[in-house]
Amino acid sequence: MLRSRIKQQLRQWGRRYTSSHYVTTPIFYVNAAPHIGHLYSAVIADAHCRYQRLRHPNADVLLCTGTDEHGTKIQQAAAGHKVPVGQYCDEISQRYRDVFQAAHIQNDDFIRTTEERHKQAVSHFWRKLHDNGHIYSAAYSGWYCVSDEVFLTDSQLRLDEASGMRYSLESGHPVEWTEETNYMFRLSQFQDDVRHWVKQEARIRPAKFEKILLDTLSEPLPDVSVSRPSNRVHWAIPVPGDDSQTVYVWLDALVNYLSSLGYPNEKFAKHWPPAQQIIGKDILKFHGIYWPAFLMAAGLEPPRQLYVHSHWTVDGQKMSKSKHNVVDPVKAAQEYTMEGLRYFLLREGVAHSDGNYSHVKALRILNSELADTLGNLLSRACAKSLNPTQIYPALHSEELTELLHNLDAAKRLEESLLQLAERCQQHYECNHFHLVADTTMATLHAANNFFESSKPWELKGGINAQRLETIIGMTMDVLRLCGIVLQPIIPQLATQLLDKLSLPGSQRCWSRLSESFATDGNCNGNGIGQDQGKGSRQLDGQTSALLFQRIVEKKLDKSTQKPQPAKRSKSKKERTKATAP
Ligand code: MSP
Repeated sequence: MLRSRIKQQLRQWGRRYTSSHYVTTPIFYVNAAPHIGHLYSAVIADAHCRYQRLRHPNADVLLCTGTDEHGTKIQQAAAGHKVPVGQYCDEISQRYRDVFQAAHIQNDDFIRTTEERHKQAVSHFWRKLHDNGHIYSAAYSGWYCVSDEVFLTDSQLRLDEASGMRYSLESGHPVEWTEETNYMFRLSQFQDDVRHWVKQEARIRPAKFEKILLDTLSEPLPDVSVSRPSNRVHWAIPVPGDDSQTVYVWLDALVNYLSSLGYPNEKFAKHWPPAQQIIGKDILKFHGIYWPAFLMAAGLEPPRQLYVHSHWTVDGQKMSKSKHNVVDPVKAAQEYTMEGLRYFLLREGVAHSDGNYSHVKALRILNSELADTLGNLLSRACAKSLNPTQIYPALHSEELTELLHNLDAAKRLEESLLQLAERCQQHYECNHFHLVADTTMATLHAANNFFESSKPWELKGGINAQRLETIIGMTMDVLRLCGIVLQPIIPQLATQLLDKLSLPGSQRCWSRLSESFATDGNCNGNGIGQDQGKGSRQLDGQTSALLFQRIVEKKLDKSTQKPQPAKRSKSKKERTKATAP
């Protein structure tokens, strides 16, 4: 009965049209400072939203993030630091805000689970579950993992014979035996409904994680404990009507996605359900099973899509405090710049498998792609020796036609540019940022090659002025299009690039990718229909043409034998070729 009602309800929900595009990141535990894995979740969500805004300028795109501040784990962390727990939460939560601000995450809200608005939402949500008959009280005994804040069954544990200790099979964290009276949620009743929800087209992405969920759902789901005794977990939200119990942290945490929208105030419905919820693979079960079940039990539509990403390892090892290999994004940004770090995470990370973070790889990618390929092309096109009047020149149609007919490198560039928008759009739609970067770099390589082959430095000095302007204009067209495409991934660098080209804000949206020499020989899309030398645009003299300085590999300091801080300098190419020969 319940099942067919929910299936029908899911069908109705699916048909509702909404211009809202609500995206969330997980809320981050405040038991430790942010690391690059946390930043990665946020950067994926940010790049996704920035793309949506570019592509659909009228859509109501909303990004929410925040911090998860209740439970034993936080209680213990604060005690370990000998700081009052409230103050501890304030400090770490602020560090997340600071890192996200530095990384230019454009979040519309930052929610903390210790805020009053969230407590109200959790109490209301609890009452809904209770009033709808999905919560009951029971004596509970089992293994509890504080690090993961979860009860585990025997089959989810590993016994260490030597010490007699038990550990979570999945996370490796220790568990403790617990016997207490709890409120339970009737998860078992939602097994089929959740399976049905998971199986909907593109519900869980990448598909590998859908399979993992369906495997879990092929076994009977036990009911789950949704409260803890207040005397054990006091740093939590009290269960409405029963102060002896506090709300289980995962139920508390998941409701943040509603409280951020103002729930239970009806205005939340304008943005509900989330279009996409970004999560790491370790929290799939909570978001892919508990969360849709809680929502259905409360009569609310579950999210349209869960986008699950894998984890970052460091030099092949899991990041952990004990291994002293946790990468602090603030320190990493001192070496690579925050834009460089964003680029590296999105360029090197793929959602379906773990990514390896290595300094050597970061240097190689940033130097070759941001400095030598993108940065260098802009420096060359803006070099005073070739472009003394500092313009984004108009194209001359005869020269353009001749170049496209007679120069292979120009033809290859034209082909590459013609495919750029469509390919990148397909990749962005799937959050395949690494493929967007790949495609853009391929076009920029073609442009560097064209620049090299057309030898603009041989055309200086008057008689070949039109050819020279056309070559520089074509190159700037490529830079303009690549700048538009890269805005979601490296927003600050892309802005600098487009500013340098004096491109008005209104011309930086996705639809403008259809304007270039490749699509319309008479218009190079620098904003003005043009031909025969009319309509050149002045470059912005206030904005530097140096986009990204090469990073010089650390050398050992002879006296201390410690690595010296990495230095950033112009590339050899930048130094020589910008003014070549
Ligand atoms: N507080 C919960 C989430 C509650 S959401 C209602 C939590 N917090 S967390 O701080 O531990 O993790 C937050 C996010 O960071 C998760 O998506 C997690 O997968 C991600 N990462 C944690 N370590 C990571 C890596 N090493 N690499 C990539 N992402 C990682 O879980």
